[in-house]
Amino acid sequence: VRRVTTQTLQEMRAEGTPVAMLTAYDYTSARLLDAAGVDVLLVGDSASNVMAGHETTLPITLDHMIYHAQCVVRGVQRALVVVDLPFGSYQGSSREALRSAIRVMKETGAHAVKLEGGAAVVGSVRRIIDAGIPVMGHLGLTPQSIYKFGTYKVRARDEDEAVTLREDVLKLERAGVFGVVLEKIPAALAAELTQSLTVPTIGIGAGAGCSGQVLVTHDLLGLTQDFNPRFVRHYADLAETVTGAVGRYVTDVRAGAFPSADESY
Ligand code: KIV
Ligand code: NA
Repeated sequence: VRRVTTQTLQEMRAEGTPVAMLTAYDYTSARLLDAAGVDVLLVGDSASNVMAGHETTLPITLDHMIYHAQCVVRGVQRALVVVDLPFGSYQGSSREALRSAIRVMKETGAHAVKLEGGAAVVGSVRRIIDAGIPVMGHLGLTPQSIYKFGTYKVRARDEDEAVTLREDVLKLERAGVFGVVLEKIPAALAAELTQSLTVPTIGIGAGAGCSGQVLVTHDLLGLTQDFNPRFVRHYADLAETVTGAVGRYVTDVRAGAFPSADESY
């Protein structure tokens, strides 16, 4: 199979073919998502919520992210694998940012990194790209800054914030990012930003006018039960499937109905 590269994404944008991106944190899921044709697998720091059970993305460490990325890379044949630099691994200085990005690339075999923010991280983005590492941006609702925002509400609804967002996205493009995630901003603004850029935008809660879409896999599969923002479409109800199957197993074990003679040696 032909691998998806950052160049492929650029071609897809030029052709008007939307990019399908999802999160992955482990080998088994990564294999399934890759086989299903997902173009980009994001080892998101949402692993902090989905895998580790934390309330925010802040606690996850670079070592944890590297472990998840190693697992995902082993399951992938086609997709581009992008790894989130976690909170605290790049904000200190461009030198720290580069060191973290290099660890991800050396220790995991992933293909690119993603980090949150605009003007404040442009120097780091440049330095990482100068080292030959592709970088994806992430603007709008940036969960690593949740305590600064105070809420998970839609971002850039007011003009001041929209102006800053327009500037930030152009700064990232000039710094050389190969794409930008736009999270939870008005659809019209996301469409406008997409038109103003030459690199693909990947939206989450940002409407259909982006160059591609991303969701947290556990949300679309209906595995997360207490998270239901309007931008999530549930393509399955795996929580129900899992509790049903496991419930039947528990019943069978208690009843002495599992294992059968056929299932024994
Ligand atoms: O960590 C994550 O899952 C993300 C996506 C939602 C864009 O950054
Ligand atoms: Na993230």
